[in-house]
Amino acid sequence: MRYRRSTFVLLLCVLAGVLPGRALTPVAARRGMVVSSEPLASDAGLEILRAGGNAVDAAVATGFALAVTYPFAGNLGGGGFMLIRRANGESIVVDYREEAPGAASRDMYLDAQGNLLPHASTVGALAAGVPGTVAGLALAEQKYGKLGLARVLAPAIRLASRGFPVSYYFAESLREHRELLAQFDASRRIFLRNGRLYEPGETFRQPQLARTLAAIARRGPRAFYRGRIAAAIAAIEKKYHGLITRKDLAQYQAKLRAPLVGHFRGYEIVSVPPPSSGGVVLVEMLNILEPLELGPPNSYQSIHLITEAMRHAYADRAVYLGDADFVSVPVARLTSPEYAATLREEIIKAKPDAPLQPGQPAAGESSNTTHFSVVDADGNAVSNTYTLNGGYGCGITVEGAGFLLNNEMDDFASKPGAPNMFGLVQGEANAIAPRKRPLSSMTPTIVTRDGKLRLAVGSPGGGTIINTVLQVILGVLVYNMDIRMAVAAPRFHDQWQPDKLELERWGFSADTIEKLRAAGYPLEYVGGLGEVEAIAVDPQSDWRFGAADPRGDGKAVGY
Ligand code: GLY
Repeated sequence: MRYRRSTFVLLLCVLAGVLPGRALTPVAARRGMVVSSEPLASDAGLEILRAGGNAVDAAVATGFALAVTYPFAGNLGGGGFMLIRRANGESIVVDYREEAPGAASRDMYLDAQGNLLPHASTVGALAAGVPGTVAGLALAEQKYGKLGLARVLAPAIRLASRGFPVSYYFAESLREHRELLAQFDASRRIFLRNGRLYEPGETFRQPQLARTLAAIARRGPRAFYRGRIAAAIAAIEKKYHGLITRKDLAQYQAKLRAPLVGHFRGYEIVSVPPPSSGGVVLVEMLNILEPLELGPPNSYQSIHLITEAMRHAYADRAVYLGDADFVSVPVARLTSPEYAATLREEIIKAKPDAPLQPGQPAAGESSNTTHFSVVDADGNAVSNTYTLNGGYGCGITVEGAGFLLNNEMDDFASKPGAPNMFGLVQGEANAIAPRKRPLSSMTPTIVTRDGKLRLAVGSPGGGTIINTVLQVILGVLVYNMDIRMAVAAPRFHDQWQPDKLELERWGFSADTIEKLRAAGYPLEYVGGLGEVEAIAVDPQSDWRFGAADPRGDGKAVGY
């Protein structure tokens, strides 16, 4: 009986053009696919695809839905980067990264002795940058969507007003962050019910957030950046001694940027430019690795060579990268194959983990962000990473408006040379200045070959993001793994400083670990690196294959 029912379900799925993935196979779909960190948000994107929306419509719907169902990282009060590749081959980046308020200053997180003020850039109103998400999603929808803001916001409004069942992982996440959220009245009331913590299966309703989303649906981003909601943001900032004013909100603009493009073994790598370091560091690493024989996946040879590429590129990140609208960033030189060749020579000559300094490319940025990928039936693709920075951002929920504010100011170099919450050491190029955007590590990326879409990929994970994306790309392009295998494969991370090679605890053989230790790598075990939500397109059949990372609770859905 069970066999007959599952055969019937399979037949229905095949007729509908979608094949359900088993634990270790990707979800397959003929037309469109959405993969995000939270199942209801993926469903919201699919609803919009089925309603005739394109990949941008579905991505915007997913982004707004995550702000409701995944407040850990989904957001209205944060920022991010959306990489869009249209079926005609045109690519564009919507930069909706947060901005430093007009009153921000270089030393705002230092005391009179020049020491970092504990938690000032991570908890509370002073930690928040001017939010960019609403401007970014609205701009993407207006320029590249088909259905309009009101239609794509409908699933998010429904989820906020009717509520949704609290999952085990959401309940756990609220419990884990209760110390942060309990510090601020509206957060304590909305997310912690003043101490009566949500249990799995209970319904979580957010009427204030529903009203905010409905206002955006009616009046567009102006509803957020001017008027009642802007006044509420400015008021809560004032109450908790932050800097964001109504003027800061009124002047905020999402920016359209040309993507950063690199090449690797016949593939085109399309990613994001500054103010994210993601594209530059990813392309620099791929350039270094291009001609090297990497050996079997996760063998000593492959881990050693990839780690050395990571160390060089992250050392350069620390010194050279910042908001290119404010400082000069040598993007072309850092991503040139000639520069990579000099670094490769150094790697070949040097001992493993030899001390190294940032290079001279002269002429001659915890899983607390979230990523989603969308491909539609026409072949339009979106790779979007956005964030509040830390889980639940700075902890403050805007009174009367129902959304959390970010703590993205911590991505600046509060004190150049001192590590931020991800342990990333950063330099003058990323010092704080009014209206400047803090350096990010977000790496939404699309890979094509001969003009055809091959991959849409990205991850959360702060400073580890770029290395996570690198390893998934290598898994598919070098090791011919299917997308689910590449996403699930064990990962490692080295960001130059602090000097340690992080390994996922259960992923590597004892022999390999012993060889790495003997070679001199200071090893540290971590629970999990990143949470990739990716889609691969088969070049022959054009079928879409989606993979939600088993490290998270996300879902790939298609039709
Ligand atoms: N907030 C993490 C990043 O942008 O890299």
